[in-house]
Amino acid sequence: MERTEVTKAESLEDLIKILHKIFESDTINVEEVQSVMESYQTKPQEWMKYAKFDQYRYTRHLVDEGNGKFNLMILCWGEGHGSSIHDHTDSHCFMKLLQGQLKETLFDWPSAKTKGDMVQKSQRVLQENQVAYINDSLGLHRVENGSHTECAASLHLYSPPFQFCQTFDQRTGHKNTVKMTFCSKFGEKTPFETTISQENN
Ligand SMILES: [Fe+2]
Repeated sequence: MERTEVTKAESLEDLIKILHKIFESDTINVEEVQSVMESYQTKPQEWMKYAKFDQYRYTRHLVDEGNGKFNLMILCWGEGHGSSIHDHTDSHCFMKLLQGQLKETLFDWPSAKTKGDMVQKSQRVLQENQVAYINDSLGLHRVENGSHTECAASLHLYSPPFQFCQTFDQRTGHKNTVKMTFCSKFGEKTPFETTISQENN
């Protein structure tokens, strides 16, 4: 099989341009997106304007709306911050580490038969510039900044974009639908009332 030539993204701006081009097509090549996101070597000065940390929980910042094909966003994780276990609403999810480390724990979908704790499938620690991929057929995950001294930042691409996802209680497998919101869009803080949520993801 012929290998697809992967373009190297020289900057965040360049990466966004390349992603727009890739997503013009209706079929998505997961490896291609993953490679191009991996090719970008993180430079904090390029994404700093999107990254605003909160003392109590991680925050989400919209970077680009990908012509309606994808949402690109930066998540800012303070020390010890983590998500709940969640799904990805039938979308592709790519997650690249821009700074620090994040622990990703994969879970099986809870079944009607499994009572009690959800089944943990695997766990790994993502390092700077690494890109993880997940979709609903691979399971559910929880993402955490396990460090109590360093914050972390990650770049997420979701295609197609979505606003709601489901979160799961690890002890029971019970789920809840939650709306996801942005603390800022395109580097500008969004009005307070729209940032209230029990979001995830
Ligand atoms: Fe996720």
